Amino acid sequence: MQSWAALSSACGQCQRCGLASSRQQVVLGRGNPEAPLLLIGEAPGQQEDEQGLPFVGRSGQLLDRLLEEAGFNLSHDLYICNVVKCRPPGNRKPTREERQQCRPWLDQQIALVNPRVIVLAGATAIEALLGIKGGITKLRGQWQGGEQRWLLPVFHPAYLLRFGSEAEQSPRWFTRQDLKTARERALAPPPCSLPPP
Ligand code: URA
Repeated sequence: MQSWAALSSACGQCQRCGLASSRQQVVLGRGNPEAPLLLIGEAPGQQEDEQGLPFVGRSGQLLDRLLEEAGFNLSHDLYICNVVKCRPPGNRKPTREERQQCRPWLDQQIALVNPRVIVLAGATAIEALLGIKGGITKLRGQWQGGEQRWLLPVFHPAYLLRFGSEAEQSPRWFTRQDLKTARERALAPPPCSLPPP
């Protein structure tokens, strides 16, 4: 797949798994497809399925606020997508089979965006990209990878909805800090390749 147009058209007609029969729309992504940072969530919910955009429901509103508070320009600094592009009925977790069938679309998105930093929001994205199951409380905020591309696990915004507190050391506070760090690394100027004078 060489272009966003080709990816969007092919993915929009996808019938690889059972989710195709219950979806209203395929939810590919939003934001700047040339951004230095890609944020990956789990799967669309009801609002996302209706609007065709990721993270537009309650958890998306919280995510956008935390991103803005961390200094992000939402239309320039990042691109947002999910591991699975169609809504699982009743917002259940996507199955392994659904994740596997959907994986080529995610891989093509990663290749096209080619971000310096990938933020993994929640357990499904962490498992998909890092192969690590569970343990998010320890993993969040710990950089993975390196050189060409860095990955940063963070709490999923739906989890943050369960905790209203914004106090220091609260899950929302940690997430805002993690997003700030991710933005700094993604937007940092590339190291100078010229030899010192
Ligand atoms: N949760 C996700 O992981 N993705 C969305 O797009 C919405 C809610």
